[in-house]
Amino acid sequence: MFQYSYLFCWLLIEMSYQIAKGVFDILPEDPDPKGNWRSSSYWQHVEKVIREISEEFGFEEIRTPLFEKSELFTRSIGATSDIVTKEMYTFLDKGGRSMTLRPEGTAPVMRSFIEKKLHLQKPVSKFYYLFPMFRYERQQAGRYRQHHQFGVEAIGIASPYQDAEVIILLYSFLKRLGIQGLTLHLNSIGDESCRELYRLQLQNILRPHLQELSPESALRFESNPLRILDSKDPKDQQFLTKVPSIMDFLGKEERTHFETLCHLLSIEGVPFHINPKLVRGLDYYNRTVFEVTSKELGAQDSLGGGGRYDSLIESLGGPSIPSVGFGAGLERIIQTMLAQHAFLPSPSPTKLYLIPLGEEAKEKCFELLCNLREKRIPAQMDFSDKKLKNAMRIADSIKAQYVAIIGEEELKSGQIVLKEMKTGQTETHSIDQITEIFKHV
Ligand code: HAM
Repeated sequence: MFQYSYLFCWLLIEMSYQIAKGVFDILPEDPDPKGNWRSSSYWQHVEKVIREISEEFGFEEIRTPLFEKSELFTRSIGATSDIVTKEMYTFLDKGGRSMTLRPEGTAPVMRSFIEKKLHLQKPVSKFYYLFPMFRYERQQAGRYRQHHQFGVEAIGIASPYQDAEVIILLYSFLKRLGIQGLTLHLNSIGDESCRELYRLQLQNILRPHLQELSPESALRFESNPLRILDSKDPKDQQFLTKVPSIMDFLGKEERTHFETLCHLLSIEGVPFHINPKLVRGLDYYNRTVFEVTSKELGAQDSLGGGGRYDSLIESLGGPSIPSVGFGAGLERIIQTMLAQHAFLPSPSPTKLYLIPLGEEAKEKCFELLCNLREKRIPAQMDFSDKKLKNAMRIADSIKAQYVAIIGEEELKSGQIVLKEMKTGQTETHSIDQITEIFKHV
């Protein structure tokens, strides 16, 4: 009887305290070797580079709430998009209002821009953000229900120079992280009038094959035919070979815009691949769309993507102001860095681990510890009162660079032995000089 109730309680605990599907913890070090991309030191490193490079390019940080009124997303991302039809985490608040956890960053940034009338403050606003997004996705590698994006939005400039700046920022960021083998896919989906002509042409060509298209593409045939171009289904691919390029439908201005952008990227040495089938899954884009992929990832190979969205602000009730931006997924970026052995800092910065032997030594070690920290030297000390062997095990587990054991003898002589954990080499120094020595280690 006792055994059964014990088992029941254990099962209950096991069931109720497991993490939800599609989300993950970021730990100092994940015990699962396949989950090493979830180490917080890697995230901090990437986040530091994001802040550095964004500010170098003149972008300022914006933070918006985790949830917004649902209508903001349905109106901006598009009522027929996958995000709106299948993926939003929507709930009614206690006042009966429909709210949605942020599935992407562009719409909230635009909401804030319009609401605060930021166009009256500056003719051009350049924002960057770094926050979690929520999408109820089918679970698979590279697709999470909470993912983190580095995004930028440049608001106020219609010139292709602005597109170039945004694309070069994304490309330079990935390069600065040491990622190689990137492919930048570039396309122009023109403006609404050219897209309408193209949509009709696409439907005319695909209509005779409607029964043979994949169920997803058949559904998109009426509501959003351009998204059929995105299909990876081999059957759809076969019919898509008959479809003309959207490039052939661009008006003169749109074509010049695209050619200027290509020219700017070329002179800056940013390689790109013109991909007329790239349309992206959010409805607000016009003209330039782009995506950067890495062959290190499987089917979900997009590290980042974005484009121009000149009508979004107006469609949300603001003034007519052109904009362009991108979003890049941190999970996929860190996974790619690990696969390519790009530099990622080691999880522990602890330089010195102090092990006292006895009460008197404990106080002296604590004094030394505080002195080291005052000089901003990362140090820790053993408070466990356990045997030396155990204390050494702790030093090893936190990957301390050096260890110093301080006992009666060391207190008497004023000399301590520093042991480098990696090599096992030892050096003797005066206790009073330790802080000075570690300033240079
Ligand atoms: P997006 O293409 O939906 O664009 O997402 C941008 C990036 O976020 C993707 O390239 C990918 O790296 C990452 N990502 C998206 N969904 C997931 C997921 N479920 N799991 C892991 N990573 C994911 C946008 O969200 C636009 N707001 C980008 C933008 C900004 N366009 C203009 N400005």
